[in-house]
Amino acid sequence: MQTLLDDITAAMAKETERGKVADYIPELAHVDPQQFGIALATVDGQHYSAGSATTPFSIQSISKVFTLTIALGKLGDGLWANVGREPSGDPFNSIVQLEHEGGKPRNPFINAGAIAVVDAIMMGHAPKETLAEILSFVRYIADDERICFDAKVAASEMAHRDRNASLAHFMKAFGRLRHDVDKVLGTYFHQCAIAMSCEQLAHAGLFLASDGVNKPSGLRVVSPQRARRINSLMMMCGHYDASGEFAFRVGLPGKSGVGGGILAIAPGHGAIAVWSPGLDEQGNSLLGVKALEMFAQRTQWSVF
Ligand code: DON
Repeated sequence: MQTLLDDITAAMAKETERGKVADYIPELAHVDPQQFGIALATVDGQHYSAGSATTPFSIQSISKVFTLTIALGKLGDGLWANVGREPSGDPFNSIVQLEHEGGKPRNPFINAGAIAVVDAIMMGHAPKETLAEILSFVRYIADDERICFDAKVAASEMAHRDRNASLAHFMKAFGRLRHDVDKVLGTYFHQCAIAMSCEQLAHAGLFLASDGVNKPSGLRVVSPQRARRINSLMMMCGHYDASGEFAFRVGLPGKSGVGGGILAIAPGHGAIAVWSPGLDEQGNSLLGVKALEMFAQRTQWSVF
C-alpha cells in the first residue's frame, strides 16, 4: 500500500494541469496549488500516507458528512422532513430547485441541504454550543484533540455570504429553518472552516468503512444500516453535478470540498483522504479525483 501511495504522489507531482484554487472565499485563494497529499486508514488498523498528508487544510463540504451523521443521531428519520435524499444534478450552491420544491433542499450535501442540516442540529442552542458539539464529534472520530476551526476562513466566508444567505433566507421563507439566518450561517461557515490533514480525515472516515464502528477505539458511532445510508448519499450526491462522473471513474462513495479535499470510503477496506487545492469546473479537486481513480484501479476496491 505504501508503494501505491508513493506512486500516486509521484504521478500527481508530474501533472501540469492542476485546476483552479477556489477564490469566492478569498481566504482560500492564498493556498499553494502545488500541494498534494494522500492518506489511507484501513479497517485492520493500518495507516499509510504520502505527500503533504499532515498539512491541515480547510475541509469545507467534507464537514457535511459529519454534520449529517450528528443530525441523524439527533433526529433519526425525522431529518428527512426538511432535507431530501436525491442527487440534484445542479451546482453545489444552486437555488433553482428550492423554488419548485417547497424550499426543501434535494440532499444534505448541497449548500442549501447542509444549511438545513445545521439548523436541525441547533435545536434552540447558540452557535457556540452547536460548534462545540460538532468539533468534539470530529475530534472523537479522528481521535485527535488538535483539530480546530480556522477562524480566518470562517470570517472570510461570513463576509462573502451573499449566495449562501440567499439560500438560507429562501428556505426560511418556506418555513424550513427554525433559527435566525445569520446564526445558522455563522455555524455553517465554522463547520466548513474545520482544518484537518489527510491523515486526520482518513481516520475520521474509518467508521463509514467498517459498518459504523470506530475501529481504533472499537466504539460504535452509528448502526451498520446508517453507515450504509450515509455512504449511499456520498455516492449519489457527494460531488454535486459531477457525482455520476465520480462514481463512474472511482466507484466509491466520496465527499469533496472546495478546499480541495476528498474523503472516499471503501466499505470493508478503509477510508482514503486526498488533498490538492486546484479544482475542476464543478468545484471538485482535479488531482484529487485523478488520484482516487488511480487508487481504485490499482486496488480494485469498488462498491460495484
Ligand atoms: O458554502 C460554501 O460554499 C462552502 N463553505 C462549501 C462549499 C463546498 O465545499 C463545495 N464543495 N465542493
